[in-house]
Amino acid sequence: MTRQETRGTRSFESIVVIETDHRSTGGAGINPSMDPTHAVILSYLHVQPLIAARNAGHQSVMASLDLGLTTTAVQLGADAVLFPNRQSLSWPIIEVIAKEKSSCFVVHDNAAEKVYLFSDAFNRAYSLMPTERAPTILNAGFTMHRIVGSDPYRDTLQKIRSVAPIHGRVLDTVTGLGYTAIEAAKSADHVLTIEIDPTVLTIARLNPWSRSLFTNPKITQVVGDTFAEIRTLDDHCFARIIHDPPSLSLAGELYSGEYYRQLYRVLQRGGRLFHYIGDLESGHGGKVAPGVIRRLRDAGFTRVIRSSQAFGLVAYK
Ligand SMILES: C[S@@+](CC[C@H](N)C(=O)[O-])C[C@H]1O[C@@H](n2cnc3c(N)ncnc32)[C@H](O)[C@@H]1O
Repeated sequence: MTRQETRGTRSFESIVVIETDHRSTGGAGINPSMDPTHAVILSYLHVQPLIAARNAGHQSVMASLDLGLTTTAVQLGADAVLFPNRQSLSWPIIEVIAKEKSSCFVVHDNAAEKVYLFSDAFNRAYSLMPTERAPTILNAGFTMHRIVGSDPYRDTLQKIRSVAPIHGRVLDTVTGLGYTAIEAAKSADHVLTIEIDPTVLTIARLNPWSRSLFTNPKITQVVGDTFAEIRTLDDHCFARIIHDPPSLSLAGELYSGEYYRQLYRVLQRGGRLFHYIGDLESGHGGKVAPGVIRRLRDAGFTRVIRSSQAFGLVAYK
């Protein structure tokens, strides 16, 4: 996983609202088949209005139960908050959520469960981390999207705008929470998106901001290794490619000449590729970018330009 290290984040285990065995691909008591459409998902940002309303003596309040996408009327009882889906949470649990800045919580069986999953296949733990807008995934202290000086939604828009206009068929090389696929699908004819770790997709299913990844008929998901899957795709079949890989140290093959030659092969003439690198002005970005530019040119891309705002490169075929 890439992006800025989020310093000072608290241990996942520092607050356990209900005890569960976190070492399960299926989830920490989170049932992957749970219908996420109606699940209440909360974070410290979204319980604040509940607490403020209770303290002001109100018996109901409009609050967001889907991480800021919409608001709903919520009943405030003496002992608990009552949600429209008949779930409830006691005030002590609400107070615990209010203190946890790096996790989101799903409400089921009148208890709150951190959205925290362990991937046995990749030996990684992921948690859904709230921001003022779309949440991101936190893995080993790294966030999947930019959260410093930006937010996951803005970060996504910048990537997409760097290769605007988006039209025709789009390849989103790595799915993550699906934000780039969802945004590209707003104007593309079709988006193909590939994710290696099914546990990431289980988190995405619980994330209200990822919903249309699973419902938009213009998006096709593949669970697999993009390095291998790209070989199965036809020549010249995409008008745009969004390549938003983990960092070079974690996924070197996705920065290799061999992979770039495949990207070039599947891109149409006149097509464009966006390649996320990280802050091009930083030590890391400054070191990685020249090698990437050289390998993209060697792969056949005619023009490779820096997109400082989007933290990446745009390559033309
Ligand atoms: C930075 S995130 C992508 C974020 C995404 N653009 C979004 O909008 O949420 C990188 C993703 O690549 C996935 N990944 C890493 N290596 C992969 C591979 N070889 N094939 C497919 N997916 C891979 C990771 O599991 C992670 O979900």
